[in-house]
Amino acid sequence: MFDQIIIGCGEVGRRVADHYLRAGASVAGLVRSAPGRSALRERGITALEGDLDRPRAGGLRINGRRLFHFAPPPREGVLDTRVAHLIDVLQAQAGPRRLVYISTTGVYGDCGGAWVDEQRQPRPLAPRARRRWDAEQRLRRWREAGGGELVILRVAGIYGPGKLPLERLRKGLPVVRGQEAPYTNRIHIEDLARVCVAAMERGRDGEVYNVSDGHPGTMSDYFDRVADHFGLPRPPRIGMAEGADALSPGMMSYMAESRRLDNRKMLRELGVELAFPDLGAGLAGLDPEREAMR
Ligand SMILES: NC(=O)c1ccc[n+]([C@@H]2O[C@H](COP(=O)([O-])OP(=O)(O)OC[C@H]3O[C@@H](n4cnc5c(N)ncnc54)[C@H](OP(=O)(O)O)[C@@H]3O)[C@@H](O)[C@H]2O)c1
Repeated sequence: MFDQIIIGCGEVGRRVADHYLRAGASVAGLVRSAPGRSALRERGITALEGDLDRPRAGGLRINGRRLFHFAPPPREGVLDTRVAHLIDVLQAQAGPRRLVYISTTGVYGDCGGAWVDEQRQPRPLAPRARRRWDAEQRLRRWREAGGGELVILRVAGIYGPGKLPLERLRKGLPVVRGQEAPYTNRIHIEDLARVCVAAMERGRDGEVYNVSDGHPGTMSDYFDRVADHFGLPRPPRIGMAEGADALSPGMMSYMAESRRLDNRKMLRELGVELAFPDLGAGLAGLDPEREAMR
């Protein structure tokens, strides 16, 4: 029996696992690939076999008390079949007592730049956000049917080591100019890992928490500040109307949504002190030479 199981034990999961391993707890993780499993074992994380894309998650065994679910939904459609497969496993195998799920702030849809707290009714627009909303609702039904305790984290854009738009900046791709650019929200990956642990330890059952550093900015400002920090040229500006030709469909779908995330519930109830409370602090903590080498 593991103390913690992390489904989708990638960048965030490995940081959460390190926290528990340092505290002397046992952790198991699920990834799909064989090299991914080797990487887990090298860090002292037991690697589980399974694949959420297959019915009953390809024979996944859930032998643990507490579960983090960090795997993303599939790339297509509006349903999260991966969560559906996981729930089948949990129901068949006396699943965990408590589950922390990483969702996204995309479930709120476009909010016209308004401040958004957890009371706001989700109105997901993009298919990727609709898949997340589907996952949230499936997990809620699992909880309501007596499955176990559930805490949902609606997470903003993750940045940090290896998670910066440097390639985009080097290519000189344009961004939409300031007045037309949407608000975006961020959280440093190290702080997100701390929030995940705090949510497992202190999050209230059945609650949703917005996870961001509480300092939204426009998308163009974000790219400018990263460019300045790494000595790269600021990206050229275009108008929104030109965006459809110059930007990828994925980027355009982000441009169609603007909101400012209220993170006060996270700070108050989870008691997390952010190490990187704004973008300036997060960038200052990065090693430019190391990032440039990635
Ligand atoms: N990027 C953002 O700004 C952002 C914002 C909000 C939320 N999120 C979400 O936050 C979560 C954690 O992020 P992260 O950076 O830690 O992601 P990550 O490094 O990509 O890790 C995701 C993990 O899920 C595993 N996985 C994917 N499909 C699977 C399947 N069918 N069966 C089993 N495992 C599977 C992957 O395994 P393999 O490596 O073997 O494929 C990987 O280890 C993700 O769900 C992400 O979508 C991201």
